[in-house]
Amino acid sequence: MIAALLMAAGRGERFGAPEPKQYASLLGRPVLRVAAEALLAGGQVRLLQPVCAAGEEARVAGMLEGLPHLPPVTGGATRQESVKAGLAALAAHAPEVVLVHDAARPIVPAGTIEALLAALETSPGAIPAQPVSDTLKRGDAARIGETVARAGLYRAQTPQAFRFAPLRAAHEAATAEATDDAQLLEWQGAAVALVPGHESNVKITFPEDLARVEATLLPRLLPR
Ligand code: CTP
Ligand code: MG
Repeated sequence: MIAALLMAAGRGERFGAPEPKQYASLLGRPVLRVAAEALLAGGQVRLLQPVCAAGEEARVAGMLEGLPHLPPVTGGATRQESVKAGLAALAAHAPEVVLVHDAARPIVPAGTIEALLAALETSPGAIPAQPVSDTLKRGDAARIGETVARAGLYRAQTPQAFRFAPLRAAHEAATAEATDDAQLLEWQGAAVALVPGHESNVKITFPEDLARVEATLLPRLLPR
């Protein structure tokens, strides 16, 4: 069975709005609902576990009304703590596979989930990632120190897919803060597979990202 975590317990500080970005309106629907629908669209995900901030559980359940989902659980101060809480809630259902997805990424390109699941046949984890195309510089806000070779560098996206048991074990064993779930497996020495990411899979981080996502989604809603 394939489960998914919908990660929505962040505060959206860079977004800078009174409300966290996952609750913002995206063409009239909450960002997190659009992300949930995108995750469920292919029919592979049987269990959707939302993870949200303390006190927001009923509201998140309301935003997901009509979609199949488990009761939202409370996340933690960091994304890693939030994922760990979500995995603990899913453990009772003993899924074989879990997708971990940012509620702030409302577009899951067609084919991404299929590619991830195919890669899991031979790896404990698989993530969508895109090669870096800009020239990379190391420096501070005022000055460039050096140019960093970009060959072999990728930008990681979500959903990230894992066999449930190794991801849960990696979270339970973690003693440091990783920036994504794949890194926890890397620390265990596990090989994480890469599948092609997509430019449309934007993580809403700053207010202008919401407009970019709306511009991508709007043509899909218009009659052909
Ligand atoms: N997230 C979470 N629990 C946290 C922090 C983040 O579930 N303690 C979720 C966010 O809700 C988001 C995803 O993880 O969907 C990716 O995190 P990020 O883009 O960093 O969101 P925020 O932490 O909310 O934003 P910021 O870092 O700007 O405050
Ligand atoms: Mg954050």
